[in-house]
Amino acid sequence: MSGQESTLITGIGELVSNDGDPPGRFAARTGAALVIADGRVAWTGPASRAPAADAVVDAGGRAVLPGFADSHAHLVFAGERSAEFAARMAGRPYRAGGILVTVEATRAATDAALRANLRRLAAEMLRQGTTTFECKSGYGLTVPDEARGLALAAEVTAEVTYLGAHVVPPEFAADPAGYVDLVCGPMLDACAPSARWVDVFCEDGAFGADEAAAVLAAGRAAGLGARVHANQLGPGPGVRVAAEADAASADHCTFLTDADVDALTSTPVVATLLPGAEFGTRQPFPDARRLLAAGATVALATDCNPGSSFTSSMPFCIALAVREMRMTTEEAVWAATAGGARALRRSDIGHLGVGARADLILLDAPSHAYLAYRPGVPQIAAVWQAGRLVAGSLP
Ligand code: NIG
Ligand code: FE
Repeated sequence: MSGQESTLITGIGELVSNDGDPPGRFAARTGAALVIADGRVAWTGPASRAPAADAVVDAGGRAVLPGFADSHAHLVFAGERSAEFAARMAGRPYRAGGILVTVEATRAATDAALRANLRRLAAEMLRQGTTTFECKSGYGLTVPDEARGLALAAEVTAEVTYLGAHVVPPEFAADPAGYVDLVCGPMLDACAPSARWVDVFCEDGAFGADEAAAVLAAGRAAGLGARVHANQLGPGPGVRVAAEADAASADHCTFLTDADVDALTSTPVVATLLPGAEFGTRQPFPDARRLLAAGATVALATDCNPGSSFTSSMPFCIALAVREMRMTTEEAVWAATAGGARALRRSDIGHLGVGARADLILLDAPSHAYLAYRPGVPQIAAVWQAGRLVAGSLP
């Protein structure tokens, strides 16, 4: 065991393993046990047949789930926009222009202030069961500010996304093509070493189809995987651009045509739904049932950012998905775990099959359904990351 103790978790009321048939499907069993060794899941099966281990945790009938995989978050920023939120709740519409308020605050912030905010949000996520999260730049929009955002993000996660193409900054208002050249050239050169992914906000008021395709092509040529903010505020070319760029994920997917749905079912692009953004902007929720009925792979993520969706809570997003998007509790929990893993093209997380990274949630409840059944109630009793207890406490 390379000096690391093995741990047997027994007495599990419901073990959500996502290792069903066909492979990777939602699966949950009762009366189960699980052994962690060397940071991985070493064994799962009926508690009555569990092997011996160095340490034993009795879950006492509580549920165990894979840690959440939050595949979409914007955590490198300064300042806040609660007044904009309050105005929206009073009837004002959401506009991408609010992003520039955060850009100004982020550029003015010290590294230490950005790092402290980022770490606070990352810790919030962990306490709420998120063991893997993606983190985008996109509030710097100069070469040094984007590069520092990504370097900071790389301190807290391996899933780092270059979003220089978030919006056109004010100094390029008269020359948007010049900004796209910067994003695809010197800014990319400075950012690619810290990033795994490239993203673009493809939307009216941000970047059009040709600009988005150029950004993704440049990013891919620099070795980055593609992801797209697509069809958030209205119908548009985002999903098509994502499919053409072999993106891992098209995110938001709030306004889709039949052709968009076809593109999401005939390609490996994951449809990542971000119901926190519809909550925070009072927009209609995406039609998850239409996507699921067509056979698309659906992920759920928080979109945590100070503008449209200032929540770091996957349990909250699961509750919204179930209540507002009519996903079943199984579909929502799968989308927040295995779905997020697929949106990040990761096979080592999002499930608890033997060999998976031992990223686990012990829920203070007997089944996964409680995540939606008891919305807003803290129910994450303990969290393990790669086999280490990193949040909460053991029963
Ligand atoms: O995913 N859509 C673009 N970006 C963010 C919002 C950012 C902001 O309002 O600050 C989103 O919703
Ligand atoms: Fe976003």
